[in-house]
Amino acid sequence: MSIDLTFGGRMRIPMIVAPMFLVSSPELALAACSRGVIGSFPAHSTRTREKFAEWLVQMDEGMARMEAEGVNPAPYAVNLVVHPTNERCQGDLALCIEHKVRIVLTSKGAPTDVFEKIHAYGGIAFHDVASARHAEKALDAGADGIIAVCSGAGGHTGQVNPFALVNEIRQLTDKPIILSGAMSTGRDVVAARAMGADMAYLGTRFIACPESLAPEAYRDEVIECTAKDVLYTTALDGFPANFLVPSLLKAGLNLDDLADIRPGEVIDAHAAKARYKDIWSSGHGVGMVTEKTPAAEVCDLLIAQYERARATVRELL
Ligand SMILES: Cc1cc2nc3c(=O)[nH]c(=O)nc-3n(C[C@H](O)[C@H](O)[C@H](O)COP(=O)(O)O)c2cc1C
Repeated sequence: MSIDLTFGGRMRIPMIVAPMFLVSSPELALAACSRGVIGSFPAHSTRTREKFAEWLVQMDEGMARMEAEGVNPAPYAVNLVVHPTNERCQGDLALCIEHKVRIVLTSKGAPTDVFEKIHAYGGIAFHDVASARHAEKALDAGADGIIAVCSGAGGHTGQVNPFALVNEIRQLTDKPIILSGAMSTGRDVVAARAMGADMAYLGTRFIACPESLAPEAYRDEVIECTAKDVLYTTALDGFPANFLVPSLLKAGLNLDDLADIRPGEVIDAHAAKARYKDIWSSGHGVGMVTEKTPAAEVCDLLIAQYERARATVRELL
């Protein structure tokens, strides 16, 4: 069965505001949904399952309010780490089932039983990967679509060029591909579609929004930084990730040490713990974030840029 990516005509741009640990909030997700963009957050951004339940109630109430006001919101999505090492996985999944979360964004590991449980209540699961090999595994396990996390993405990043990864995954499947990494304009979303992806996944573009949970200093840093200030390293938690250089320097880290460290090695336990809290992440698209604009306005801007770029591309080609 093919998935209706317009979600019954509720989407104004094929885009998901990507889940960001300690940054996404229900307010940010609801603002996106209200403009016809899928909003999301990671379950693990909440400290406890009770808090996660509160966020889901807040989402459902927010969506119901919009429906009552005649707004047709886009659906929202929740990010679940489905690797067996995540002790919260089954309990958090049970809450997604209870709230019939329309879209679950699964990360790390791709267990068939998780996909089956999501399908059983009518939900869909998009699984994030950084390689075609992991995409293949997720598709075999029953994922409904693949989030291709490419080089230049914020948070845990991929290392493969987006053209290469989208092409490789497209050879495996006709299911939706959601491209992630360094996109920050509506034109970029058109480009993602043109290169064979179905949707775009934007995180960094929304860090500075007032609805984000990022501390003020992080949001200031995002506004000041450009791509040259983003450092790729595996040193903080063993996974490849992109971090903002000023925050690394403030934490007393030596950039040469970070660059030289071997994959899997962690530089020091304290720094590893500070990541995302005092050591801040962003993708290469950070240079396009220049103001702390409310999320709904950012969405409207992206939609207008998307429409203009579609017209331009039609003329060009
Ligand atoms: C601060 C930050 C935290 C993130 N946390 C998560 C997370 O908890 N789960 C997840 O699946 N992806 C996470 N990501 C990755 C995003 O979901 C998305 O793949 C990425 O932001 C897209 O690249 P962009 O930031 O260049 O737009 C995070 C990204 C950032 C910037």
